Amino acid sequence: MDINSIARPEIVAMKAYASARSSAAADGILLNANEAPQPLVDDPKWQRLALNRYPLPQPEALRVRLASLYGVAESNLLITRGSDEGIDLLTRVFCRPGRDAIIECRPCFGMYRIAATIQGAQVVNVPRLASSGLQIDFAGLLRTINEQASGRALVRLVFLTSPNNPTGDLIARADLERVLKACDGKALVVLDEAYIEFCKAESAGSLLADYPQLVILRTLSKAWAAAAVRCGTVIADATVIDLLQRVIAPYPLAATAVDAALQATSGEAIRHQRQLLETVRQGKQDLLEFLSTCSWVHEVWPGEANFVLLRLADAGSLVDWCAGRGIHIRDFSSEPLLEGCVRLSIGSTDEMAALKTCLQAYGERI
Ligand SMILES: Cc1ncc(COP(=O)(O)O)c(C=O)c1O
Repeated sequence: MDINSIARPEIVAMKAYASARSSAAADGILLNANEAPQPLVDDPKWQRLALNRYPLPQPEALRVRLASLYGVAESNLLITRGSDEGIDLLTRVFCRPGRDAIIECRPCFGMYRIAATIQGAQVVNVPRLASSGLQIDFAGLLRTINEQASGRALVRLVFLTSPNNPTGDLIARADLERVLKACDGKALVVLDEAYIEFCKAESAGSLLADYPQLVILRTLSKAWAAAAVRCGTVIADATVIDLLQRVIAPYPLAATAVDAALQATSGEAIRHQRQLLETVRQGKQDLLEFLSTCSWVHEVWPGEANFVLLRLADAGSLVDWCAGRGIHIRDFSSEPLLEGCVRLSIGSTDEMAALKTCLQAYGERI
């Protein structure tokens, strides 16, 4: 598949900005970036991270770490300020304003449509099926992708999420491959795996070799417990990575963030992650058992991630009740197909105990 043929022609034609740090080595006497020769702050961290200097655009140590973590070649990844930036870059590179479109399957993560709207791209929603527990309508999705052949919608990006936020369901490998085949030569399939570490399913990374139209998004914000670091990874064919690199800011990654990302993925952090995943698994199981005893809960989507979606008669009253007790849960009731729905993230053992007490009191009140 010729990736360049579906990217915006002006991006294909342009050359990336050559920053000081991308065009010359970062050692020796650095007089090429109008920086100050030393920090003003007398703190060893400033010296260690050379915070008076521009950082490397894609530091090798972090590239090596993430490539090994995700089991992909370094040439297939771009480190971004969270997956949010990856979504934004993809939309800017592949969607011509006023002409191209993205597909999403709502309910899903809200940033796909925000990025598309900012870019002036059309958002085509293939709604999930209310009749089958909000599963993706794969027949409808394939039909919408194929309609492009007749020139109706110039879909360039198909966003899929596995596990999905907020329903938590996984996409089966066979379904993903059907979508990938339908998109061949037409569009990229962006598979957002923000929550994949919480479940037993494997990343779809191994499909990259067969499907250059596949893009995978990974993040340190969820199971790596480092949301404030803002570190995401776009995993894709080298041609896609090259195009994204032309659009990303010259110095997207703060040196402090790179340092924190290396700490967040160290051997020690990996050991702590096992504990985190076990705490989430146990906390979720306990919460689900508790919810099964609550007559006011009409429907539950346990899902495969670190949250649970549930439906009740009056979502707003529960959100307010919890907020009044200092507990913040997410109201999804204004989303299409999610009337009466709230999403509960799985927190620490103490936080889950507080949540259960709060929900118990809510149940007794109604
Ligand atoms: C499905 C999904 N993708 C991406 C993100 C954003 O990830 P990041 O923090 O890496 O920008 C979220 C955040 O909630 C999410 O739910």
